Amino acid sequence: MDLLIVGSGFFGLTIAERAANAGRKVTVIDRRHHIGGNAYSEAEPETGIEVHRYGAHLFHTSNPTVWEYVNRFTTFTNYVHRVYTTHKGTVFPMPVNLGTINQFFQSAYTPDQARALVREQAGEFDVKSAANFEEKGIALVGRPLFEAFFRDYTAKQWQTDPQKLSGDIISRLPVRYTYDNRYFNDTWEGLPTDGYTAWLERMADHPNIEVKLNVDYFDESQPLSRKATVGQLPVVYTGPVDRYFDYTEGALSWRTLDFEQEVLNIGDFQGTSVMNYPDMDVPYTRIHEFKHFHPERKDVYESDKTVIMREFSRFANREDEPYYPVNTPTDREGLLAYRELAKGEKDVHFGGRLGTYQYLDMHMAIGSALSLWNNTLS
Ligand code: FAD
Ligand code: NA
Repeated sequence: MDLLIVGSGFFGLTIAERAANAGRKVTVIDRRHHIGGNAYSEAEPETGIEVHRYGAHLFHTSNPTVWEYVNRFTTFTNYVHRVYTTHKGTVFPMPVNLGTINQFFQSAYTPDQARALVREQAGEFDVKSAANFEEKGIALVGRPLFEAFFRDYTAKQWQTDPQKLSGDIISRLPVRYTYDNRYFNDTWEGLPTDGYTAWLERMADHPNIEVKLNVDYFDESQPLSRKATVGQLPVVYTGPVDRYFDYTEGALSWRTLDFEQEVLNIGDFQGTSVMNYPDMDVPYTRIHEFKHFHPERKDVYESDKTVIMREFSRFANREDEPYYPVNTPTDREGLLAYRELAKGEKDVHFGGRLGTYQYLDMHMAIGSALSLWNNTLS
């Protein structure tokens, strides 16, 4: 074996694929029972509907290198992501756009009129002197839009009273003065035609790649542990950076999600893939309905059943799946200390969202793995 990769998410698999193609013998370990990290999906057994196990994953990129690379393993559908939100019993388009504004204020503002209205309402506070999340949000988009679409939704994401949230968690709030409600602005967008797992498996399908599942890098009873491998061969580590260093500089904080999945005996629950719930009286933040990610499969999926997943958000404990970095000032200090430690770790390369404590979209994880391969490992 020439290279050990800890973690079979997009970061680890991209390195594995490149290295295998260059003739290296690679072993990939993952502590989960499946490959693919958080992009993993599987067919719900009763309906066959593809369910994204760790939250809905939409592929999008403007990076031509990444786009060319991913197309070696899968084709993409022409799915275009759009999100709606149910506020006080009415459905509005997201992100907040001219359609949302005109529906909310029961008006027919032009872009300039809407801009002037929001500017006037935002005058209640100043962004620079805003004392907390609430004042800052009002300073950005004005009280009516902030309270309806941002305040309680964000408070639910953080399970924290909006007045106790720091203004630092937002630098801007998206408002568009056109009717464009396409969620992503990237050059390319779509879902893998045969699903995420088929894509991920094709990346790992090479005689030079061996994948070992249910193997934890920190389990010293197995032969490929940290203790047994560091200094012995190059290692790409994509697990949590604080865990690698036994939390000596403190545990970095994360937000996690809880999912409640349900199979319903109806053909269509909500008519769209993602519906947000920004109001406090609903405990979840959104509902995913997976069949709408693949309208082209409508003859394959059963027409009288559907799978929905309610998403709840909260701070992660150590035993929870880490999803989004919280990134408090303490976390940023801890991260700097871990980066220093990482420099001293001989031939261990920290990568991916957990290894760098960064939210990375899939195209970013793949792009940064391609860079690590090209610049350092190849
Ligand atoms: P991961 O996919 O997390 O893979 C890391 C792997 O390391 C895991 O399989 C883990 O089991 C393994 N591991 C960790 N510790 C150990 C250990 N000790 N021993 C062995 N193995 C270990 N991106 C988009 O582009 N579009 C989206 O719509 C999108 N939606 C998202 C929604 C949610 C809720 C989340 C959390 C992320 C979303 N992402 C999305 C981001 C996407 O999931 C990441 O870009 C991708 O997971 C990054 O891959 P990775 O390899 O860095 O990490
Ligand atoms: Na203001």
